Amino acid sequence: MKISVRFTLLLLLGSVPPSESTDYQQTFPQDIYAVLRETTASLVQLKADMRLLLTQVRQVAFSASLVNTSYSVVGPSATDITLIFKFVVTNIGNAYNSTTGVFTAPVRGAYNFEWTVGANGGTSGAVLVKNSANVFLAYEQVAGFMSSSKAVALFLEVGDVVFVRVFVNSVVFDNLNHHTTFSGHLLFPM
Ligand SMILES: *[C@@H]1O[C@H](CO)[C@@H](O)[C@H](O)[C@H]1NC(C)=O
Ligand SMILES: *[C@@H]1O[C@H](CO)[C@@H](O)[C@H](O)[C@H]1NC(C)=O
Repeated sequence: MKISVRFTLLLLLGSVPPSESTDYQQTFPQDIYAVLRETTASLVQLKADMRLLLTQVRQVAFSASLVNTSYSVVGPSATDITLIFKFVVTNIGNAYNSTTGVFTAPVRGAYNFEWTVGANGGTSGAVLVKNSANVFLAYEQVAGFMSSSKAVALFLEVGDVVFVRVFVNSVVFDNLNHHTTFSGHLLFPM
């Protein structure tokens, strides 16, 4: 995020022709104090607005697991299924939607995401998707309980979406211990 402010208001002061200088000298002090008062007021307002803006947009952090129930399996499927992480632990800034499973970037910047996919035997995989593109895959083929994790830093524009899908022909497992999770946070705005 870039906020630039340019003040050009004092440029006029050096450009008054000599013929008008008598009149100019009489009115000058009042004018410049009025201008400075206005400028100071604008700067104070601008600082307050910026402080509000920065505290609003910089606080983005969420963490959720698939369920808070005793046993849950998603998949296998011949097509990708979006995982809806229903058990929300943290959702500062409300950018993660637990109805859809989708995170929507509220500000242009660098974000970090982590996801872990739990397995209870068999093939287990979950891919992180940015808009419509698969980014990284967490994947495992195991006999018993196991989990696989990935993380990624992403540059996102406002409105870009990020979510996690069950990989084709894979199964995702979760229970009260929260084996399958999705977390993200804003690193810094840009
Ligand atoms: C999660 O489920 C457990 C077991 O049913 C329950 O004790 C606990 O209160 C639940 N946690 C939340 C935040 O709902
Ligand atoms: C989450 O998504 C649902 C379905 O699109 C929508 O109705 C709801 O308003 C969204 N919630 C938030 C907090 O944006």
